[in-house]
Amino acid sequence: MPYLTPITFPFFPWEEEKGKKMVSSSLPPFSFIVVLWLCFFGLAMATPPRKPIDVPFQKNYVPTWAFDHIKYFNGGNEIQLYLDKYTGTGFQSKGSYLFGHFSMQIKLVPGDSAGTVTAFYLSSQNSEHDEIDFEFLGNRTGQPYILQTNVFTGGKGDREQRIYLWFDPTKDYHSYSVLWNMYQIVFFVDDVPIRVFKNSKDLGVRYPFNQPMKLYSSLWNADDWATRGGLEKTDWSKAPFVAAYRGFHIDGCEASTEAKFCATQGLRWWDQKEFQDLDGWQYRRLMWVRGKYTIYNYCTDRSRYSTMPPECKRDRDV
Ligand SMILES: *[C@@H]1O[C@H](CO)[C@@H](O)[C@H](O)[C@H]1NC(C)=O
Repeated sequence: MPYLTPITFPFFPWEEEKGKKMVSSSLPPFSFIVVLWLCFFGLAMATPPRKPIDVPFQKNYVPTWAFDHIKYFNGGNEIQLYLDKYTGTGFQSKGSYLFGHFSMQIKLVPGDSAGTVTAFYLSSQNSEHDEIDFEFLGNRTGQPYILQTNVFTGGKGDREQRIYLWFDPTKDYHSYSVLWNMYQIVFFVDDVPIRVFKNSKDLGVRYPFNQPMKLYSSLWNADDWATRGGLEKTDWSKAPFVAAYRGFHIDGCEASTEAKFCATQGLRWWDQKEFQDLDGWQYRRLMWVRGKYTIYNYCTDRSRYSTMPPECKRDRDV
């Protein structure tokens, strides 16, 4: 038997912390109150994913290409990606993961970012690949970014949704995260769910469950399609274009790229009941985003899908 402890422990700094506190305080009434609190409120309250913990870039990530276009600040707690007319750049996670919660704080390219795309996504490595995408499409100064999301299962994507954001994503850092378990994939912007993709295996829709994914991020030029469908070209006199990152939180079940399941499947926090569906508050937020900020939704694109894709009803997309 391999020695298993290192798989669980180093990834949960807060558990260590909690453990320490419990020991040092040695106050049973305190833990009792916590248990009571969880019983009363834990079930009724909104359950956002566990609070991400900021770690330096190099803990979880490595550059993928154009290494000299990534700049590091403050010991790697913050990084910047540069795009100029020679190249963009990107990075990827060291590990691959089957389920978990993955979060990044990003401050997108400010000013004239037309033609640029910044992406943060999860992807498996093989041909029939699974993928969970955030893509930020830049725009001319003062014009709004578009956030496009997509889900690929078994090599098939074509599930684009596009929204405007309710804030200027170039002014401050905002967190973009994915919660992925056996039951659902939820895209969050800060604490707001902007999209859910439920496991609709029973409806004949493939669901990512047996291929570990790595995380990727990149900044590149896509002025053939990104801004107003490719009408707005990248203005290279404004280069370099800079996107800033921090956070780098990964809390997933690490598995080899060939693994078919996660060793701790069913036992981690994201597997538990309160993360298997959105709660009332989260659905209301999701409906608010859909109602106010949606630009495009493949679910309602009759020219593309004469019959609605089966997962759309399940996801309450329509
Ligand atoms: C850019 O701005 C135009 C004009 O406001 C808008 O139609 C478009 O959706 C915006 N975003 C992108 C990425 O094209």
